[in-house]
Amino acid sequence: MSSAISTRRLTPEDWQLFRRVRLAALEEAPYAFGSTYEGEVDAPQSRWRQGLETRTRFIAEIDGVVAGTVSGGDGDSSGAAAMTGMWVDPRFRRQGVGDVLVKTVMDWARSAGYREMFLWVTDANTDAERLYQRNGFVRTGAAQDVRPGHLEYEMSRTI
Ligand SMILES: CC(C)(COP(=O)(O)OP(=O)(O)OC[C@H]1O[C@@H](n2cnc3c(N)ncnc32)[C@H](O)[C@@H]1OP(=O)(O)O)[C@@H](O)C(=O)NCCC(=O)NCCS
Repeated sequence: MSSAISTRRLTPEDWQLFRRVRLAALEEAPYAFGSTYEGEVDAPQSRWRQGLETRTRFIAEIDGVVAGTVSGGDGDSSGAAAMTGMWVDPRFRRQGVGDVLVKTVMDWARSAGYREMFLWVTDANTDAERLYQRNGFVRTGAAQDVRPGHLEYEMSRTI
């Protein structure tokens, strides 16, 4: 029997939890992100709190255990939001947590009045690209270097 997946929005008071989950993501899946574990591990408390003020951060939990995280914030153009920081703990993959996190950010963006959602996904990250395609995202055609020898592709969908 599968357990229920719940999500909740983090506040600046949750900065230690945010730090733990984000560092776990950067350490476990360095290929997936533009930021690095080394670049963030020594950040002071103020930076973690700021990260919770400038973007809206969610965690997913299963039986009270953190299973994944995702963030939402302003996109590059007016009326557009951006989804970033998607990560599911390997122990909880292939159980629908990614789908729940996408829906959580889409719901947040819809109630915040955004009309379109953008994200970037690195080349060869087929698990993530399938997750986004299944949730209605398509490549926009934009691509950029994420690190030497690796591109990331932009995807979007209307909200
Ligand atoms: C990409 C990522 C977030 C996907 O998370 P996930 O929780 O495994 O995603 P889902 O469970 O929603 O979907 C994954 C697969 O499991 C399947 N699945 C979903 N629920 C399932 C269930 N109850 N039983 C079996 N399979 C299930 C989905 O159909 C999907 O299959 P597919 O890939 O063959 O199409 C995760 O692999 C990850 O964190 N990767 C590293 C970080 C990363 O790449 N982040 C994205 C940055 S852009």
